[in-house]
Amino acid sequence: MSAIEKDFDRLALLDTGGWTQNNHYHNLLLRYVPTPCERVLEVGCGTGSFSRRLTQRAQEVIALDLSSEMIRVARSHSAALGNLQFHVADFMSWQTTESFDCIATIATLHHLPAHAAFKKLKTHLRPGGVLIIIDLFEPERRLLTANGILDATLNVAAMAVCGSLRALHNGRLKPSRAVRAAWEEHGKTDTYLTMNELSSLAAEILPGSEIRRLLLWRYLLIWRNEIAVTG
Ligand SMILES: C[S@@+](CC[C@H](N)C(=O)[O-])C[C@H]1O[C@@H](n2cnc3c(N)ncnc32)[C@H](O)[C@@H]1O
Repeated sequence: MSAIEKDFDRLALLDTGGWTQNNHYHNLLLRYVPTPCERVLEVGCGTGSFSRRLTQRAQEVIALDLSSEMIRVARSHSAALGNLQFHVADFMSWQTTESFDCIATIATLHHLPAHAAFKKLKTHLRPGGVLIIIDLFEPERRLLTANGILDATLNVAAMAVCGSLRALHNGRLKPSRAVRAAWEEHGKTDTYLTMNELSSLAAEILPGSEIRRLLLWRYLLIWRNEIAVTG
């Protein structure tokens, strides 16, 4: 079992629902799901909270995660939803001939080899389909640059907003000690793209992507697989 799988099996058992820095953005992401939407794929679905939201917007939702514990918990919360299928799978080796009107992935891309993952995500998107990515990014460490000042300012604002929202929704300023310890352990091996690296990759593989910083240490990337206009 890989270290990532082990980390997320551990985190799945500590999941108590509630507000998170990821589900904070679900309403925003749903705005980009095309209408109509026949089939949608979620990559790295965790305990499936966004997959369940997607069932209201698509006829069929397929959701993948590497962690069998994440999928076990996801299934246990989703028994009533006939148009939602969960699979334990590593996205990079997942084999399918299916294509999708929409592919969404939240806080997962940094676990995948970015170049190959962007290409594979693109391959599975139908013409006219929409790719929705939220992931963490490496902030600019050189303070005396425009991005350095921006990232440092956003970081201070994000800490205040995150603490306030967690207190409001979950009744506590910080996650439990057990959850913090599990994330701390996991964080030792996490690496993120810088915004410049992301922009270069997107320009090469997903030209025309819309990319923007979100407050809570994340970026949003939207790419539309435009249907070629002929004639
Ligand atoms: C930080 S969690 C985010 C979970 C969920 N998207 C959310 O918003 O709460 C990242 C998820 O990606 C999954 N993951 C990591 N590598 C993966 C891979 N190669 N294929 C599929 N899922 C993967 C992990 O098991 C974990 O559940």
